[in-house]
Amino acid sequence: MGLSNSLENAPAGTRALSSRLSVLCPLDHDFLATLARDVMAGLGDQPKKLPPKYFYDDLGSQLFDRICDTPEYYQTRTEQALLERIAGGLVEEIAPTDVIELGSGAARKTRAVLDAVHRSGRPCRYVPFDVSEGMLRRSARQLLDEYEWLTVSGIVGDYDRHLSLLPPGNRRLLLFLGGTIGNSEPEEAVRFLSRVRANMGPCDRLLLGTDLVKDHAVLNAAYNDRAGVTASFNKNVLSVINGELDGHFDLARFEHVAFFEPECSQIEMHLRSTIDQTVCVDRLEMHVDFAAGETMRTEISRKFSRASVASMLAASGLELCHWFVPDNDYFALSLSKPV
Ligand SMILES: C[S@@+](CC[C@H](N)C(=O)[O-])C[C@H]1O[C@@H](n2cnc3c(N)ncnc32)[C@H](O)[C@@H]1O
Repeated sequence: MGLSNSLENAPAGTRALSSRLSVLCPLDHDFLATLARDVMAGLGDQPKKLPPKYFYDDLGSQLFDRICDTPEYYQTRTEQALLERIAGGLVEEIAPTDVIELGSGAARKTRAVLDAVHRSGRPCRYVPFDVSEGMLRRSARQLLDEYEWLTVSGIVGDYDRHLSLLPPGNRRLLLFLGGTIGNSEPEEAVRFLSRVRANMGPCDRLLLGTDLVKDHAVLNAAYNDRAGVTASFNKNVLSVINGELDGHFDLARFEHVAFFEPECSQIEMHLRSTIDQTVCVDRLEMHVDFAAGETMRTEISRKFSRASVASMLAASGLELCHWFVPDNDYFALSLSKPV
């Protein structure tokens, strides 16, 4: 299936928007079935857990974007400043024909790379890839307004299932930013990166953003912002289940919990039931019992070191070429290539 700008020739799921924008939507077909399967498995498990990708409906994506602006969430501004510092050198070294961004979200930091591409004067296509269609379309339109030379070929998909839809190119720079790789368990992350690696040609490069281990108080504060935006984001997964699967979660009966767990070097985000309760999810014909104080895990966010990033990349068939960190060592960007 190829990306297309033409409505007449468009494969199912492709919608033409303008001559510089095309969006492929493989997610349309099976989103609900996958959500139902994952929720049934996660709520039936002991302890209960839910996959983090279901935070990101349109509201969840906007809440994540607001988290990025909270004073406690150092990750976005640290990675942004680092990218601005290194983007010129990267673009000179790679001369990308395509910038592909997995989990592109609001594509805030992408501008640092696109500015460097603009300065290089070479043509380049941008390929955002995200589960959140509204956010992808909004950010694509903004980028097209800002960069009149740019073409955008978006993919509204699940990068666990639809990576094969990435368009081919000569020298593709793949971005996976925001520390999102940390949301996967170690083996899952290696399986994912191995699939990314299998998709890469010899001249393609992967720029991976990873959050680093640091003072626990800084980590804990980042996931417990005083304005409560992270708490709203966390509870949004319950609204998604209510909306899509006719669930009856009362958000007021769950509270946000997030803490650093040093043994696994990860932040864990949970929702804790404040009372004994049974919640029905009609479309799954499920009745889920929660004891007062019981938590279900909604996200992990693993924190890395240079050694743990290098070994994760090596296990995935990738070789670390450059390691970039800011002065405070809070966050790292690593450039890798297929072995
Ligand atoms: C932590 S946010 C990072 C957003 C942005 N890259 C940044 O650095 O600020 C994770 C992003 O990945 C997207 N995402 C999560 N799981 C996904 C999946 N399985 N497939 C595609 N996109 C996914 C979310 O919609 C969200 O935009």
